[in-house]
Amino acid sequence: MPDYLKFIEQINRKTGINLSLYKEAQMRRRLTSLYDKKGFANFEEFFFALDQDRDLLNEFLDRMTINVSEFYRNAKRWEVLQNKIFPKLLQSKKTLKIWSAACSTGEEPYTIAMVLGNHIPLSQISILATDLDENAIQRAKAAIYPERSLAEVPDDSKNKYFDKQGTFYEVKKEIKNTVTFKKHNLLNDTYEQNFDLIVCRNVMIYFTEEAKDQIYTNFGNSLKKDGILFVGSTEQIFNPQRYGLETEDTFFYRKI
Ligand SMILES: C[S@@+](CC[C@H](N)C(=O)[O-])C[C@H]1O[C@@H](n2cnc3c(N)ncnc32)[C@H](O)[C@@H]1O
Repeated sequence: MPDYLKFIEQINRKTGINLSLYKEAQMRRRLTSLYDKKGFANFEEFFFALDQDRDLLNEFLDRMTINVSEFYRNAKRWEVLQNKIFPKLLQSKKTLKIWSAACSTGEEPYTIAMVLGNHIPLSQISILATDLDENAIQRAKAAIYPERSLAEVPDDSKNKYFDKQGTFYEVKKEIKNTVTFKKHNLLNDTYEQNFDLIVCRNVMIYFTEEAKDQIYTNFGNSLKKDGILFVGSTEQIFNPQRYGLETEDTFFYRKI
């Protein structure tokens, strides 16, 4: 069996992560460059080592997950959420059930809280935020960020919702308290139901078409009628009807 296929099987058995559902060329390139750097000759040697070395396994997980994120990523889209989507969702109800899926280190769910905080009190906001990567979730809970993560944050939110500590910024408690973090694998785990808003951005690009299709089907099933799916700015869905969705605005889809 080719080297990489065997590695995929071994990793799946060890971690429950199915690498065959991630685009192969990209993933292979990232992992090959990691094992090269570590001085291994092939995937077989690499697996043998990471099976016994927790730090190396963590490094592998870090490399495969790509945790890059920032507050208000693609700021214009967050304006649409603030000025169009939230007012519409809040027409008929006072609280919303919200999920930030593949939330990485927390910038995204905290941004949702800041934007929604312009409409309703923070004490009424509760956001589920999930990611596959436990290290990212730990960093999300700590909620301390370098200045570059805040480049797109409007000045009023920056003053209101962050404490500056030297060159770092800590998210204030009243924002932190709106978010509950959990580990969740979009490819294996069951999806909660009845969401008004699901935000899932900048992770679909890593998956195969088959995996994307399954995840969008699950999101479609997890939204309430008129609930919204907010996707990343390179992740337009070409056939939303297939998932019971229709376009509400660019990169926003409404459950029919
Ligand atoms: C580039 S970050 C996106 C963060 C944020 N959503 C944003 O747009 O800024 C991609 C995240 O997807 C997570 N991820 C990758 N595969 C996943 C899976 N199968 N289930 C859940 N999260 C996954 C990674 O751990 C990483 O934190």
